[in-house]
Amino acid sequence: MRNYDVKNTKLAEGGRYRIEWGEQEMPVLRLIRERFATEQPLKGVRISACLHVTAETANLMHTLQLGGADLVLCASNPLSTQDEVAASLVTHYEIPTYAIKGEDTTTYYQHIQAALDHRPQLTMDDGADLVSTIHKERTDLLDGIIGGTEETTTGVIRLRAMAADGALKFPVLAVNDAMTKHFFDNRYGTGQSTVDGIVRATNLLLAGKAFVVGGYGWCGRGLASRARGMGANVIVTEVDPLPALEAVMDGYRVMPMSEAAKVGDLFCTVTGDVNVLDRQHFEVMKDGAIVANSGHFNVEINIPALADMAREKRRVREFVEQYVLNDGRRINLLGEGRLINLAAAEGHPPSVMDMSFANQALGAEYMVRHAGELERKVYAIPGDIDREIARLKLEAMGVQIDTLTPDQEKYLHSWQEGT
Ligand code: ADE
Repeated sequence: MRNYDVKNTKLAEGGRYRIEWGEQEMPVLRLIRERFATEQPLKGVRISACLHVTAETANLMHTLQLGGADLVLCASNPLSTQDEVAASLVTHYEIPTYAIKGEDTTTYYQHIQAALDHRPQLTMDDGADLVSTIHKERTDLLDGIIGGTEETTTGVIRLRAMAADGALKFPVLAVNDAMTKHFFDNRYGTGQSTVDGIVRATNLLLAGKAFVVGGYGWCGRGLASRARGMGANVIVTEVDPLPALEAVMDGYRVMPMSEAAKVGDLFCTVTGDVNVLDRQHFEVMKDGAIVANSGHFNVEINIPALADMAREKRRVREFVEQYVLNDGRRINLLGEGRLINLAAAEGHPPSVMDMSFANQALGAEYMVRHAGELERKVYAIPGDIDREIARLKLEAMGVQIDTLTPDQEKYLHSWQEGT
């Protein structure tokens, strides 16, 4: 039986170019790769990875492979796969890959099962579908698992809920908690790639548009700042008074979604929660409103409610579904409500994934090194790994920084000196 499922292996050559193009912007991962190739910290370790199958992920897979890992990769979202990259992973890197852009839910879960048939010792997740499938359907694998790593906010929230319930059966490192991950990937990566996805899907001029950002976490902060940079008039909605206040101080208009819904031209949710855009919002939206999501799951826009309100649905552009409501208003849904930055664009650029995936690679090494020592909990990435990644990134960018003088060091550790 074939040990892969990709769209077409003939696409491999194009995928190789994409992977190599990305690699040029991933200097930290390159340094880790060189060390891994000599030290072999993952020698013989079976890893099942469930990540967005992109050029950047391919570079991470290659790094783990050179570190000695025995790898299998499947998609972490039905719409985020770059088919050329999947083909190249199979053809040029001999990494069994199960991912096809546009796969249906059944195929998506078949691919997860195929990745689990590898009997992983280490799991690598983006959204926790792998870990959750193991705990629900493949408990036979639990004994062999050292631990896992988790890439994203949504996955970490799910895993923490499992740990709080006493349901989590192995330790997981929360890559998302690293500062070199969420301060950069969530903010600058999501910010730029979401605007990129919306523009590619719609060819819309953002300047002068009322752009509503649902949620002011790190992704929302990044998206709001990039949309403003393109000249949009940004409105933020929030449920938490702290980030809401921050958004006000950052110069955005803040209001409930029920108000924003009446004035927005374009809406993008990045909250990680369900039904942020719901029936009552569609009821008051302007004709031609555009709704998109850049959160991990396609639950933030209540698509069944929108479909229920529509008398007609038509595909008007590649990533645009237009819902014509009974009163004639048209609401345009982008990328089936899936993360628009990966559905219609290429996800975060490589230079930001460089840091996220440096955390994944070093996190995997840490897990293997500490096998059997950790509890069944969600752990943050150790601070020394985080700082080392920041140091390497600065070095690669040619940026130098100061060092504390002995006097300054002493001052910081003393309490006697005051006014
Ligand atoms: N998540 C967001 N952007 C990504 C990318 N380019 N590759 C893998 N995962 C991602």
